[in-house]
Amino acid sequence: MSQQRTAENRRRHVLDLDDFTAEEIKEIFVQTDAMVEILQRSIKQVPTLRGFTVVNAFYEDSTRTRISFEVAAKTLSASVVNFSAKSSSVQKGESLVDTVRTLEALGADLIVLRHNMAGAPYLVAQHFSGSVINAGDGKHAHPTQGLLDLYTMQRHLGQIRGKHVLIVGDILHSRVARSNLWGLSKLGAKITLCGPPTLLGRPSYWEALFPKLRVSYDLDLAVEKADVIMLLRLQRERMEQGLLPSLREYIRRFSLTPERLSRAPSHALVMHPGPMNEGLEIAPEVARSSQSVIEEQVTNGVAVRMALLYMLGGR
Ligand code: CP
Repeated sequence: MSQQRTAENRRRHVLDLDDFTAEEIKEIFVQTDAMVEILQRSIKQVPTLRGFTVVNAFYEDSTRTRISFEVAAKTLSASVVNFSAKSSSVQKGESLVDTVRTLEALGADLIVLRHNMAGAPYLVAQHFSGSVINAGDGKHAHPTQGLLDLYTMQRHLGQIRGKHVLIVGDILHSRVARSNLWGLSKLGAKITLCGPPTLLGRPSYWEALFPKLRVSYDLDLAVEKADVIMLLRLQRERMEQGLLPSLREYIRRFSLTPERLSRAPSHALVMHPGPMNEGLEIAPEVARSSQSVIEEQVTNGVAVRMALLYMLGGR
C-alpha cells in the first residue's frame, strides 16, 4: 500500500472516501467555505500554491472534473499541466507507471488522475512521491464528486445526519454512487437505492457494507420521504447487453418526471453529477426546476477541489 499519510500525519492522497472519517469530511467543508469566500471576491486568486505543479492526467473524457480542477488550481496560483492520454506517448505503448515517473521527473507535485481502470490511482500513488487525487477510476470511485455532493447537501439541509437520500438509476456502473455511499454513511444519512434489479447489484451486498441502506424498486413510493433525490446517468458505454428491456420501459419506471417529483416533499433537492441524459433518467423540466441544485453542484466542485488541493499541498 502507498503511504496514505505523510510523516506529520497529514493526508497524502484522496483515492476514495472509504478511509475518511466524518471529522475529516467536516474539516473539508470548513476549508471549502473559505474557498467559496475567495471565489466571491472581485479578484479570484490567492498565492497559496505558487510554485506547486498540478498535473491533470485524464485517460477518459471529462468536462466538469477536469475544468474545475484547472480553475481550482489556478485560483490557488499553482502551475497547471493538462495531460491527455489521447495525445501522449500512451498512444506509443508507454505504461501508466512510466508515464507517472516521467511526470515526476518533469516536476509534478500532485497528479489528478481519471482512468477507465478501477484501481489505477492506487497504482499511481505507489510510484509517485507526491500526492494523487482520484478524479474517477472505472466503476470504482469518484471521491471529489462525492465530496461536492455532500457539501451541496449540507449547505441546503444544514446537516446530513438522519436525512433521507435517495439514489436512483444505474448504481451498478456508478463510481459516483459508490463514493457517495461511503460519505453519506459516515455522515449518518438514511440511504435508499432505487432502480431496476439488473442495475442495482445484490441488495445483500450493499446492506452488508452499509447497514442503514435500503433498496427499493418503486420510485413512486421511494420519493415520498426523500430529502435528496440523486439521479445517476445510465452509463450505456459501460453496460453489457440485456440489462434493460428497453429505454422506454426504464423511462416509464425510473425517470424523474414532474409528476414523480410532485410526490416528494417540496424541500427535496434534485441532484445529478452530470453529464445528464435529459429525457431519460431526468426530465428537462425537473433538471431546471427550483428544486434542482445541479448547477450549484458544478460550482461547488471548484471550491471543494480548491480545499483538497490546499489540504494536500498547501500547508
Ligand atoms: N461528474 C463528472 O465526473 O463529470 P465529468 O465526466 O464531466 O467530469
